[in-house]
Amino acid sequence: MNNTNTEIIAISGLIKKYGSKEVLRVDKLNVRRGSITGIIGPSGAGKTTFLRILNLLDTPTKGELCYFGRPVPSAPEAKLTLQRRMMMVFQKPALFDMSVSDNVAFGMRARGFSARETEERSQSVLKKVGLESQGRQRAKTLSGGEAQRVALARALVLEPEILLLDEPTANLDPANVELLESMITFLNSEYKTTVLIVTHNLFQARRLSTELLFLYQGRLVEEGTAHRIFQSPRHEETRSFIEGRMIY
Ligand SMILES: Nc1ncnc2c1ncn2[C@@H]1O[C@H](COP(=O)(O)OP(=O)(O)OP(=O)(O)O)[C@@H](O)[C@H]1O
Ligand SMILES: [Mg+2]
Repeated sequence: MNNTNTEIIAISGLIKKYGSKEVLRVDKLNVRRGSITGIIGPSGAGKTTFLRILNLLDTPTKGELCYFGRPVPSAPEAKLTLQRRMMMVFQKPALFDMSVSDNVAFGMRARGFSARETEERSQSVLKKVGLESQGRQRAKTLSGGEAQRVALARALVLEPEILLLDEPTANLDPANVELLESMITFLNSEYKTTVLIVTHNLFQARRLSTELLFLYQGRLVEEGTAHRIFQSPRHEETRSFIEGRMIY
């Protein structure tokens, strides 16, 4: 059976080392199209490293990554085309020193969308993240939570097939956390966007995820449906982490 319709990302034998230190090892993992994968684990477990590798910002020391049924191409243009099908929102939002609207429109302009479509889509996304009245404000004057929402808007406006989120709600108040979570579920149900979300908030992981990955000391200790892992984790490390007993 051709399984490329269901497996959007396939990983095998992935190892990442910085110097001689191994920071990530994922022997085998398939990400199903249309899934929301929560990535949990203590600080330093390799979560951000994993997302950066998935976004092709960093290269694995060993191993193979396939997207949409094909290995990552080595030709720069083909790699860029693949990269443009995914978007990442970083743990520390990095915005350009320009207005909020220009930040959101930037990616569409770079991809050659018409001015009209860029304007329409940017405004609509700004409205969705609750920042429609702040389009003209300089991004560097935004609060932490507002900046995080602009970072998300910049990703959403490009309608990626894969959305990689690194603690996107870490600086948000409860109302904005809810707004963001409902946007993520909306994108996933409406556009079948495949989402991988790193979160320190286990309640959030429970609310959003269909699948769950538990990383610990650079290893993928446990993976499975979120429901199964929260109900009956197979590994003691996973259990102690989700029960809040892990000391690290
Ligand atoms: N460029 C780098 N050079 C050397 N070591 C690095 C580099 N990037 C990350 N590391 C190390 O790799 C390990 C994993 O880091 P990573 O940022 O992926 O953790 P994390 O799970 O995202 O943690 P947190 O929850 O604190 O964000 C850490 O020990 C970190 O110090
Ligand atoms: Mg991190």
